[in-house]
Amino acid sequence: MCGIFAHLNFGELKERNSVDVCMEGLRQLEYRGYDSAGIAGIKDGQICSIKSVGKVSTLDEAVKPQQLQFRLAIAHTRWATHGRACEANAHPQFDQDHRLALVHNGIIENYAKIKQTLVKKGVTFSSETDTETIAQLFAHHYKENLLKAAVNTFSELDGAFSVALIHKDHPDQIVVSSRDAPLVIGINDQTNEIFVSSDTNAFTGQSLRVLFLKKDEIALLSPDGIELYNKKGKALDITFEELCVEECQTATGEFDHYMLKEIYDQPLVLKEIIHSQSDETNHSALFEQLVLTPKQIKNVDQILIVACGSSLHAGYLAANMIETAARIPTRAEIASEFRYSDPIITKNTLVIAISQSGETADTLAACELAIDRGAHLVAICNVKHSTLVRMAPSTILLNAGPEISVCSTKAFTSQVCVLQLLTLYLARIRTFGASEGREFLRKCEAIPHLAQEVLKRAGSIASLAEKYARFTKFFYLGRQQMYPTCLEAALKLKEITYLQASGLPAGEMKHGAIALIDESLATIALCGNHVTNDKLFSNLMEIKARGGPILAFAPDGSESLQQVADDVLYLPIGESDEQNIYIYSIATQLFAYYVAKNLGTNIDQPRNLAKSVTVE
Ligand code: F6R
Repeated sequence: MCGIFAHLNFGELKERNSVDVCMEGLRQLEYRGYDSAGIAGIKDGQICSIKSVGKVSTLDEAVKPQQLQFRLAIAHTRWATHGRACEANAHPQFDQDHRLALVHNGIIENYAKIKQTLVKKGVTFSSETDTETIAQLFAHHYKENLLKAAVNTFSELDGAFSVALIHKDHPDQIVVSSRDAPLVIGINDQTNEIFVSSDTNAFTGQSLRVLFLKKDEIALLSPDGIELYNKKGKALDITFEELCVEECQTATGEFDHYMLKEIYDQPLVLKEIIHSQSDETNHSALFEQLVLTPKQIKNVDQILIVACGSSLHAGYLAANMIETAARIPTRAEIASEFRYSDPIITKNTLVIAISQSGETADTLAACELAIDRGAHLVAICNVKHSTLVRMAPSTILLNAGPEISVCSTKAFTSQVCVLQLLTLYLARIRTFGASEGREFLRKCEAIPHLAQEVLKRAGSIASLAEKYARFTKFFYLGRQQMYPTCLEAALKLKEITYLQASGLPAGEMKHGAIALIDESLATIALCGNHVTNDKLFSNLMEIKARGGPILAFAPDGSESLQQVADDVLYLPIGESDEQNIYIYSIATQLFAYYVAKNLGTNIDQPRNLAKSVTVE
């Protein structure tokens, strides 16, 4: 969650003000948290800092009138874990004598114990954060040598962290370290600058030599360059990678919000995925970075998919597709549960990790467990230089373009699309003949057009959303592939409207959830599985009999639904369950968007959420 950025000038060139550079860096990292922000540098031999509650723009307003000039600075944007979102808990945090300032991403699990020991020694704390414990502990260990203090401090910490620290006695240096939380250092040899960032997003538009810090490494940055040490303080050789982060279009353009723009991006993004990854000659799919031979694929005895949130929902859909088409036993697992389980993994187990950001802590931990047990890991990710992509031998990039809105839309459908093509690839090796492959591919090729057709119904969706925005509770009901689609639809609605919403397999209603039905709870039925639609109709009858209002999302021509539903939203007819995933997902994304718009919530940055979940 939190974002760290730091900057230091070196060399002879005219210096840039680190305040300006860090503020720009924070703007790029704000998607990681927007509870508070802060910056610190060293001026006249003293630590000087500014912090503010809320977004980076609020910090910007506080910083500008001060006209600060720093040669180096550390900065932070916070997603609160320990302690409320208030100025005292904002980063940077300090030691009691204000000799050092520190920014942190992660969670220190043994902070209470360390704090207790320090308090007993007379140290006074002034925040509720776990982060302050690191700052105070560092000061406690500091005896004129930054490296020694860093080694002693970090070795006492349990948990995950990345930190950047400055000390008033060393006005030219920044100390950084990381354990299970990403931190990347970049050098620009042309401008003589060093940057530190939680991820490479903040390096957009630059060509840099970069170093991704490995577990427990400590780096000292100074005008002389970078020194790298292991956790015991032993000097290490540095191998830089060349990195050029391309400038991407990230404006909302004609749209009111990023979420709406990203919903409308979908037909094109899906088209590009299908176009670039279909193998027309072999009626299959192509994955350049998949390092598995057909023989290895034939031997796969099970597939485990690990992911969180929307990516997990894509995993549920993929598990059904792979089992049905390629006949490989496949399960999607909640990464935060999987990481503490004792999974059966054989040498022929394929583990697929799905993550838009590639930085989700639970997903990364699940991958580490899978790799440790000998599985082959395939990463499906939208961020090229992410931790997940760097750890996986096989990767499939979504190439969906940056997803800025916290609420995932185009990344979700892109994941489903890539996984659908992967299903085809596996099936062609294991079960499908050429004609089945051709037919599967033909249905894939129709998806972008169907997505476009759904967007044409946005007007009807907006009207229904206006009507249904008065409800505070929602059930999304569906069967087969429409069930995970319901889970995703409910997640979208609750994330951006703060309304209670659950996705349920329609047949399960009668086993408990039906007790909740009354006139205040709206049921939204996703009628996109033609095999079970009659059954779903009966389930809706049971809801109607109990006075529950019903909105059905259904294919064009299903007029009979008007007998049971209060309202019907007609959608393009999908030929297959797979096509319906996109049709109903895009329709429910738009529905959630317009309900949120009616309620006036912060659509792109909903409360309590961050785009990248880098803590447990
Ligand atoms: C929902 C959403 C989250 C993410 C989840 C996993 O709209 O965005 O549920 O899907 O936090 O994130 P990634 O895919 O980056 O691992």
